[in-house]
Amino acid sequence: MKKRPNDSIRIGVLFSETGVTSVIEKSERLGTLLAVDEINETGGINGHALELVSYDPQSSPAKYALLAQKLLLEDHVQVILGCYMSSQRKAVIPVVERWNGLLMYPTLYEGFEFSRNVICTGAAPNQNSVQLADFMLRTYGSRGFMVGSDYIYPYESNRIMSDLVFERGGEKVAEIYLPLDASKDNYEVVVQKIKQTSPDFIFSTIVGDGTALLHRAFANAGLDPRKMPIASLSTCEAEIQQMGAELAEGHITSAPYFQSVDTEANRRCLENFRKRFGDASVTNMCWEAAYFQTHLLANAMRRVGSDNVADLLTVLPGSEFSAPQGDIKIDEHNHHTYLRPRIGRANAAGQFDILCESESWVHPDPYLVSHTLQDWSAPLTTLVPTARP
Ligand code: ACM
Repeated sequence: MKKRPNDSIRIGVLFSETGVTSVIEKSERLGTLLAVDEINETGGINGHALELVSYDPQSSPAKYALLAQKLLLEDHVQVILGCYMSSQRKAVIPVVERWNGLLMYPTLYEGFEFSRNVICTGAAPNQNSVQLADFMLRTYGSRGFMVGSDYIYPYESNRIMSDLVFERGGEKVAEIYLPLDASKDNYEVVVQKIKQTSPDFIFSTIVGDGTALLHRAFANAGLDPRKMPIASLSTCEAEIQQMGAELAEGHITSAPYFQSVDTEANRRCLENFRKRFGDASVTNMCWEAAYFQTHLLANAMRRVGSDNVADLLTVLPGSEFSAPQGDIKIDEHNHHTYLRPRIGRANAAGQFDILCESESWVHPDPYLVSHTLQDWSAPLTTLVPTARP
């Protein structure tokens, strides 16, 4: 990177402004924008401002692939920050591998993947599914009803959750998939089935606009989240703001970050965020990963004095950051991130009461190679209660 003094460094941003997952993706974009503002206000990358080249992939995996190629080949960016659904990430991976770009992906996902050209900063299954299974089975009972959107993350995430439930002698009551654009009526049919089968909890891998439809159908059917909550890895403050707090209250989410996390870094970050984007802005797990991964990237660029992917990959793995959730680190070997599992219950204010949290960061194990349910009691993964379930 031979830059003249006033040259900026361009990075690509692919988060959807429209389409079925645009609510959460807009929030990932805002996390990115906040970090870029902070980076540029403090001297950029050794004096060069970061400049974003952004497109709207409209929640479509095919558009993601086309726009990733455009960013790398026409806009000449080296690094792309983006993707929410695993189908979007899967569409972008061959493109970054073919043209040697780097994708930084800030969303929880199903794991079982490695690419030299991808850094994952959202939770892997050993950092959210394991904790959720343990919490739900201990707190509510062992009969789980699974409902998900019809694409790769829900299928794979349900496979993992099924294993975790079966390992504990639990039972899968049903496993149902709905199209991403399923209607209110489709959700009502699913909720009738929930009512008939009376599970102990529902494991939802519904994403995007369907999340609100599931919660509305649940409430309309008179079901009680205190007795039979919806448990999720993805339903967060953004979807709660979309559906209204009353529909979400009492339901459970497993994530490394909630807006309510009580750390100095989170307080500082929320203050900066509100100054720029207004008091109504809410944060969430994907927003936070989008925020801290941008800072990790900037720190790596400063260290190597380059946006060259090969150079960045010499320093990004192993790098650490004091994130709103607590200190985090990118694993040296598997390109996933050490994170801090938490279990939250949605409250009447549209926020999460944090019921328990890990005592320290948890090593990412995307292939669940070393995991057993007994890991739970190992010092690295112990969740400590912070409130009564
Ligand atoms: C997801 O599709 N990784 C939420």
